[in-house]
Amino acid sequence: NPLTQDELKTLVGQAALQYVVPGEIVGVGTGSTVNKFIDALAGMKNQIKGAVSSSVASTERLKALGIAVFDANEVESLSVYIDGADEIDGQGHMVKGGGAALTREKIVAALAARFVCIADESKLVKALGQFPLPVEVIPMAANHIARRFQAMGGQASLRLKDGQPLVTDNGQHILDVKGLSITDPLAFESQINQWPGVVTVGVFAHQKATVCLLGTAQGVKTLDY
Ligand code: A5P
Repeated sequence: NPLTQDELKTLVGQAALQYVVPGEIVGVGTGSTVNKFIDALAGMKNQIKGAVSSSVASTERLKALGIAVFDANEVESLSVYIDGADEIDGQGHMVKGGGAALTREKIVAALAARFVCIADESKLVKALGQFPLPVEVIPMAANHIARRFQAMGGQASLRLKDGQPLVTDNGQHILDVKGLSITDPLAFESQINQWPGVVTVGVFAHQKATVCLLGTAQGVKTLDY
């Protein structure tokens, strides 16, 4: 029987344990794949110092399993950050933010020497942009930023939750932008970062993956970038 997507996530979540450095603090991302990693990490909680988390949701899960959570300001650097992605290309560039945690994810990724991306094979793409691009914005700038995306061929919509604008862990809003073709992720990320009111763009090119553990029908494939 082929493995389900959920089983592939479990597989890569467990495989990520080999990148955790004993005695250290590990950077932890957000999402359903990372949840599998956190569950596996509980098995070696006595061997690590703790974690820096990228979301309230991951913090709660880590703490519930007895793993100490440190504030990002308490650490100078991390050896490794482990997180999922919504899309990853052949160079390790990613689109992230489907779980609305992109800002803290990028911050914790920036602290880490290595970014280990864990994903099932549905996330691997030739070029970024099929998945609507999440962009965290200051609420008063949302419509202006949406018009800028429209001018470059995208359609931005405000992410809602229970009929109201979704509010991130940082108190901001999310635009999801369809129809973009992101041919040069580094340049694209730099460009959008210049727009007033953009908190974080969900393209991770400056903070790209150094390795991807990809869950496939043939098992876990390691892609080094
Ligand atoms: C959270 O904001 C995202 O960046 C997640 O890392 C991404 O959405 C992957 O989540 P899943 O593992 O649930 O697909």
